Amino acid sequence: LVIVLDFGGQYNQLIARRVRECNVYCEIYSYKIDIEKIKAMNPKGIILTGGPSSCYEENSATYSKELFELGIPVLGLCYGAQLMQHLLGGKVERASVREYGKSELTVDNDSVLFKNVATKSICWMSHFDYISQTAPGFKITATTPDCPVAACENVEKNLYAIQFHPEVLHTEEGTKMLSNFVLNVCKCSRDWRMDSFVEEQIQAIREKVGTGKVLCALSGGVDSSVAAVLLSKAIGNQLTCVFVDHGLLRKNEGDEVEAVFGPEGNYDLNFIRVNAQQRYYEKLKGVEEPEAKRKIIGEEFIRVFEEEAKKIGAVDFLVQGTIYPDVVESGLGGESAVIKSHHNVGGLPDCVDFKEIIEPLRDLFKDEVRKVGLELGIPEYLVFRQPFPGPGLGIRIIGEVTEEKVKIVQDADFIYREEIAKAGLDRSIGQYFAALTNMRSVGVMGDERTYDYAVVLRAVNTIDFMTAESAEIPYEVLNKVMSRIINEVRGVNRVFYDITSKPPGTIEFE
Ligand code: XMP
Repeated sequence: LVIVLDFGGQYNQLIARRVRECNVYCEIYSYKIDIEKIKAMNPKGIILTGGPSSCYEENSATYSKELFELGIPVLGLCYGAQLMQHLLGGKVERASVREYGKSELTVDNDSVLFKNVATKSICWMSHFDYISQTAPGFKITATTPDCPVAACENVEKNLYAIQFHPEVLHTEEGTKMLSNFVLNVCKCSRDWRMDSFVEEQIQAIREKVGTGKVLCALSGGVDSSVAAVLLSKAIGNQLTCVFVDHGLLRKNEGDEVEAVFGPEGNYDLNFIRVNAQQRYYEKLKGVEEPEAKRKIIGEEFIRVFEEEAKKIGAVDFLVQGTIYPDVVESGLGGESAVIKSHHNVGGLPDCVDFKEIIEPLRDLFKDEVRKVGLELGIPEYLVFRQPFPGPGLGIRIIGEVTEEKVKIVQDADFIYREEIAKAGLDRSIGQYFAALTNMRSVGVMGDERTYDYAVVLRAVNTIDFMTAESAEIPYEVLNKVMSRIINEVRGVNRVFYDITSKPPGTIEFE
């Protein structure tokens, strides 16, 4: 076990992730954790994270000096490095220039931290304070042009400090440095893998839930599916999953979800499908404004779910498929600052009678959730499913939503996805889908005038979904999709391809 002590840095989960990538188990705790608890866990190493404060100021995040006397290797990163130096008698001061971004790093290869690391490389800096004098017993092991102490160490005491951020990929040799700490300084064995995560979670869920009842809102998306399967493996039919079919899903999606999770499927759980399609179409009748549509879809979901929950009665736990990026974006990420509030977190808990929330995927990134999914034996098409927004096709039909329009966009989207898969592009494009514009135009088909809808195809490549660029799909593929949609989907006579990036566009249309 390696412990990451969270002082409020933005990259804490990345640190944990890098440690896990070394196949070493890692847990994150707030810097407020009692030292006795750390002693009891007896970790093989401790990593102190970055953070927004200045360690010499009163009331700044700090820790007992005793931490450095436990004989456990400690690595301080950024704020953690400054705090270590400050507490042990070094000097930390405000720098005349704030260093932010890439810097040229020179390291001493005699340091075990920098073994097999290029002597000169690029590192990622983000700080306004700097270590002006190391603590007694420490030796400087790296510098940058603006930073006299980019890293220092006290080998005898197994204490290491790094001013930059090795956990960020912009630090070219960072992964190697962290792995040197974990494997060569802490001497962790590389025996932790995703299957251990699964086993540990199953064990932890069993202990927590006991004989209690658990309720899960299953959307069929990757996160809620993986969470549901994990729960089902742990507690079987103490789990009830409610799947709301709001009639705004992709073609066949409701049946696909039912086939996997329903009574004919592979899992031991109580699956309830609520067919609320007509109810949604009714509510959406005549509504054109995007935010109004989103609100109706969201509220209706809560209402439908609430009705089902009432039938089930009080439960002890509610499962949510929250993953780490949701946590950060909603400002719930441990000690770190609020970035933005996310549209899928919150909402449900108020309407259900339960005691506690279970979020088994809370510490994982999307690709790690997928690995857990594969480990659990969930079908690949579910595990690698692309993101699908909560409001579904409701925000891919511009203007009023009707059953007829839903059918058109489902069929067009189905063809588009089929052709993308045939062209072997389905895993390489970030997100792609068809939408229905609110525009009708004149066309000609078989010598006859038509006056039909225009479908728009969207495909984007993105790293974090905050920014995106339109994907360059080969023209033959687009042509094929166009011709199939016009021929096979009634009510469409024109197909557009959207080349707008984000910003200024968003990925969805509403
Ligand atoms: P936008 O359209 O904001 O989309 O560029 C960014 C990503 O978020 C997804 N998205 C949503 N996901 N609930 C969700 O769960 C929503 O209300 C929602 N709106 C957009 C979108 O599909 C894209 O991946």
